[in-house]
Amino acid sequence: MRIAVVGLGYVGLPLACSFAEKKIKVVGIDSSPRKIRALLRGRSYVEDIKSRTVSKVVSGGWLEPTTSYGKISKCECVIVCVPTPLRKSQDPDISYILSSSREIAKYLKKGTTVILESTTYPGTTAEVVAPILEKRGKSGGKSVYKAGRDFYLAFSPERIDPGNPVWHLENTPKVIGGINKKSLEKAVFYYGKIIDKVVPASSLEAAETVKLLENTFRAVNIAMINEMAQIADRLGLDIWEIVRLAATKPYGFMPFYPGPGLGGHCIPIDPLYLSWKMKSLNFYTRFIDLASQINNTMPNFAVSKLVRILNGRKVPVKGSKLLIIGIAYKKDVSDTRESPAVSILLQLAEMGAGIMWFDDLVGEEKLPGKRIRKLTKKVLGSCDAAVIAADHSHLDYEFIVCNSKIVYDLRNATKGIKSKKIYKI
Ligand SMILES: NC(=O)c1ccc[n+]([C@@H]2O[C@H](COP(=O)([O-])OP(=O)(O)OC[C@H]3O[C@@H](n4cnc5c(N)ncnc54)[C@H](O)[C@@H]3O)[C@@H](O)[C@H]2O)c1
Repeated sequence: MRIAVVGLGYVGLPLACSFAEKKIKVVGIDSSPRKIRALLRGRSYVEDIKSRTVSKVVSGGWLEPTTSYGKISKCECVIVCVPTPLRKSQDPDISYILSSSREIAKYLKKGTTVILESTTYPGTTAEVVAPILEKRGKSGGKSVYKAGRDFYLAFSPERIDPGNPVWHLENTPKVIGGINKKSLEKAVFYYGKIIDKVVPASSLEAAETVKLLENTFRAVNIAMINEMAQIADRLGLDIWEIVRLAATKPYGFMPFYPGPGLGGHCIPIDPLYLSWKMKSLNFYTRFIDLASQINNTMPNFAVSKLVRILNGRKVPVKGSKLLIIGIAYKKDVSDTRESPAVSILLQLAEMGAGIMWFDDLVGEEKLPGKRIRKLTKKVLGSCDAAVIAADHSHLDYEFIVCNSKIVYDLRNATKGIKSKKIYKI
């Protein structure tokens, strides 16, 4: 058996490695020559995958990284994990799905199963991907390839939670929808090789919508607690205490935690795929739109509260020295896409603050201010405030509090530490 994984990022690389570790041959296709070179050298660029895993599967011949789509003709199954970002206008950008589908179509052979994993709006697989793949067999104007008959087509949302030490690809149940029964059976068969539990859906569209429900659920609940954080701030209460106490209720409450805003490639973006789709059906998704509005303004709330805190200490933002700790979008990841920490950093720099920033997980970043490689007593002591924007587990928060003038903690990283220097969102 040979499987192709198209798009070797946060989703595709763990998937490709999982098949390869089960001794299933994988052709890993990515348009980035830099990523392919790294993999060929046995280096991982995704924190959940160790370089030694990449090295083992590549040198063992189980994972073949390449920029070329040619080997698709030798694969029984092709799984697509390309990005689905938003355009500047906040509309879905499915251009990567289109370009990868066109490349796959060139080499598609009869009997192949194609599975889309990229998060997208309901209808994409049947209405956009299927017609592109069916063109493969066009002869004399007649389509000789039919999805579900000549090749099989499925959608399966990826639920990976980067940095989660408990739930990973293999033990997280996987929902799968097919364009027909045979396509579903085929996709269930391939995922069954690596996933403990697969959950069949009745259609492609149901499977596509599952992912959007899951991430809309998170976006809406995070927005609700972010609004509660602003309410608690006005009431002079500690939102973290309120959530902790509410969470002692054994039923009917699920804790969500406030923060400086949403980041990453999923939760800020996916619900907007659904709202865009629904607008085309003349339906307005009020929960999604309100949640985006609240979550998008959280960096502004975080900055305005910091201005208040500094003001209380007679420190004007202009000319102040501020240290941002953690610029990734959440704890324990290196990903800075849509990171609220970056938005906060840019706002403070624009207001004339002297910025230093520290994040030993992230790679090269072009940001204003000075990058700090080590959190020393001298660095912490030299700043008017340290802002904890991502609460990476390996950092010593006692040390940070001890050696800073003020700590503005946007993540409750200093939980359990008692000090008058700590301010929270
Ligand atoms: N990152 C997550 O936590 C996560 C979780 C669940 C679902 N998803 C979804 O999975 C999809 C992929 O996300 P990701 O985070 O892995 O993105 P990513 O940017 O980390 O990886 C995508 C990869 O696809 C490659 N690529 C782009 N166009 C290509 C093409 N035409 N052919 C071959 N390769 C191409 C890129 O070079 C990149 O390496 C998105 O739809 C995302 O919404 C992501």
